This record gives sequence, C-alpha cells and structure tokens, in this order.
Amino acid sequence: MIELYRVCKEYSNGQLALKDINLHVPMGQMVFLIGESGAGKSTLLKILYKGEEFTSGRVLIGRVDISRLIDYSQLRRRIGLIFQDASLLPHLTVFDNVAYILRAQGASEREIRYRVEGALNVVGLLDKAKEMPQHLSGGERQRVGIARAIVTNPPILLADEPTGNLDPVNSLKIFQLFKEINEKLQMTMVIATHDPRVHQLRKRIVQISNNQITMDTEPSNLPMFGSLVL
Ligand SMILES: Nc1ncnc2c1ncn2[C@@H]1O[C@H](COP(=O)(O)OP(=O)(O)OP(=O)(O)O)[C@@H](O)[C@H]1O
Ligand SMILES: [Mg+2]
Repeated sequence: MIELYRVCKEYSNGQLALKDINLHVPMGQMVFLIGESGAGKSTLLKILYKGEEFTSGRVLIGRVDISRLIDYSQLRRRIGLIFQDASLLPHLTVFDNVAYILRAQGASEREIRYRVEGALNVVGLLDKAKEMPQHLSGGERQRVGIARAIVTNPPILLADEPTGNLDPVNSLKIFQLFKEINEKLQMTMVIATHDPRVHQLRKRIVQISNNQITMDTEPSNLPMFGSLVL
C-alpha cells in the first residue's frame, strides 16, 4: 500500500532529514513511527501526503508512483490526516466540523448525517454532536479530529504526534482508538509519536534515528507488557 525505496530528503538549506529509507506498509497495517526530535518522522509523513517533495528514491502509494502525479487531489482524497492540534473550526458544532469536508464535496444531507454519525460513533462522541469545540476536553477535541479524518473513509490514515497535547492517560486512550479503527475499518495507518508506551499496543514499530530506520519490529517480536506470559 505504501512503499518507499531508498528515499532521501534534503531541505533546501542543506539540512538532511531522511537518508536511504526503505519501508513497506501493506494494506490494512498499522505502524508506529518513533524516534527522537529531528529524526525525520514528520518529514516522512509529509512526503507521503505530498506536503514535501523528496530529493531521491521512489515512493509508491497504492502502486502509484507519487512523483509522477500531476494532480495531487486524487492522492489527498485517499489520505486522512491528523495532527497534534485538531484545529477545529470554533464557530461550528462537532457535527458540522466533521461534516465540513463532505459538504464541500457536495454530499447529500442524508449521506452527511449517515457518515458523520457513523464517524462520531466510532470515536465515542455521538452524544456531543451538538456541542461547540470550546466545550470539549483536549482528548475529546482530538477525537473529533479523528472523526473528521475518517468520515470520508480514506484507505490511509497518517497521524503526526496525535497525542502531543494530551496527558498520558488520554494519550493511551487515543492510541487504543487508533488500534480499534485499524481493526474495524482496515485503514492503513502510519502514526508518528514520541510516546514509547506504544509498545503496549502490540503493533509494528519503526524507529528512525539520525534520519535512518534503525529498528523495525513486528508485534510478534515485541516483549509483553503488563500481562503474564504463560
Ligand atoms: N522546512 C524545513 N527546512 C529545513 N529543515 C527542516 C525543515 N523541516 C524539518 N527540517 C529538519 O529536518 C530534520 C527532520 O525534521 P522532522 O520535522 O522530520 O523531525 P521529527 O522526527 O518530526 O521531529 P519532532 O519529533 O521534533 O517532530 C530536522 O533536522 C529538522 O530540523
Ligand atoms: Mg515531527
């Protein structure tokens, strides 16, 4: 689904951000991208959604070579994006924030209701549909951001530090929610985070250090946390 071959990225000021990245994320897989600040996590995600060009190598998404794309909108429609700050529109209700993109795409009100309620149900916020964003907690706002990203049912979800503004308990709940979405909706996901506790979720973990992949661990090779190994 997502394939990177020998991808390098050097910013125009000469700063190296990624060196020789080879990564294959099959359809429906969830991957955590970890690594210290400045390692290159955000740059990797930006390359996938065409927020940045790469300097050399090849990137395929759904077998399409993204450097050959002239019209990016097709690619962007297939990717749901989540950032540290959900950046909800403050004058719109939770429902209307999640509905925004569907309205922009000209969906019927009936379809909008069906999809928005479905997405809010997945993130557990159906009862807050009529609330304004400023009446929500940080964790709830991020859940709305996730609902907004999945409402169009994109095959790929990319998240950059989605729990960066949250306390440890809420962070784990959000990661757990990503796991549920991955298992329920089979979306391919790449989630960049500093949080080492993602080991507990038993999903693939790719570590970037100094702009290179230094570890790639499948869940079966991860040590068990918080449970007994019999
Ligand atoms: N627009 C830019 N121009 C020049 N250099 C950049 C730019 N964006 C990032 N960099 C540099 O590229 C390297 C990788 O940055 P990146 O933002 O991808 O790291 P990161 O792993 O996401 O870090 P963090 O955990 O702090 O978010 C860093 O050295 C950074 O300073
Ligand atoms: Mg970053």
